[in-house]
Amino acid sequence: MAPDTLRAARNHLAAARHIVVFTGAGVSAESGVPTFRDAQTGLWSRFDPEALASPQGFRADPGLVWRWYMWRLHLVEAARPNPGHLALVRLATRLPDLTLITQNVDDLHEQAGSRDVLHLHGNLARFRCQGCGLPHQLTPTERAAAEPPTCSICTERVRPHVVWFGEELDRQLLNQAWLAAEQCDLMLVVGAGGMVYPAAILPRVARQAGAILIDINPEPTQLSELAHLYLQGPAGQILPQLIG
Ligand code: OAD
Repeated sequence: MAPDTLRAARNHLAAARHIVVFTGAGVSAESGVPTFRDAQTGLWSRFDPEALASPQGFRADPGLVWRWYMWRLHLVEAARPNPGHLALVRLATRLPDLTLITQNVDDLHEQAGSRDVLHLHGNLARFRCQGCGLPHQLTPTERAAAEPPTCSICTERVRPHVVWFGEELDRQLLNQAWLAAEQCDLMLVVGAGGMVYPAAILPRVARQAGAILIDINPEPTQLSELAHLYLQGPAGQILPQLIG
């Protein structure tokens, strides 16, 4: 990355008053959590999203989906925040008007110390009844089971509290994220592929409303093309350089 690009990004960051940070799976990659669409290592290069991350997949084989989510939960629980997550906490300390929006279902931003993170796609460690929506607290036995538990109220199956393909995002969360994107003067996009909507529209909303857009990613994406500045490289290296 050219030193001029980094300097320009630092200047924009210093001048900004309302910042939105929008993160995708790439911010957690250096913590050992696989992304979705990276060619060799991404989850969707090895697993079928239709079978494992859709309501019809869950209906067809609830046990398969359950065991896959338990495996992912285990991966995420073993992961620790990386220097990218930690740099974003320092940025928030300097700038109280910062909104952190993530597509990630891990809690590495929170583990690092970020507060009030908007999790657009839910949370791997939370569960709810697919019938009545009641939150469900997993017991160790339920975690180890081959099939999902059933709700104690309505006896429907319990499912992960994540957004699956074909499902809508929480409207209130999306509105909050949308408003923040419209009102910010700078959006920092980190490790997001920009392929999944409606989340991927947020950088476009910010750009359209006049914000400076900075993208951090080792591989250029559609969002890098849209950005005013593209900082090429892994988040765990670039964010500490940018933020200090
Ligand atoms: P993707 O897997 O689509 O994109 C991850 C991006 O991270 C890619 O552009 C990589 O180049 C980049 N990347 C890889 N390593 C990186 C690193 N060390 N630092 C920075 N960037 C890095 O993941 P998302 O865009 O997050 O949906 O995917 C969006 C949604 O698709 C996910 O939230 C998930 C999935 O289906 C749900 O779970 C509902």
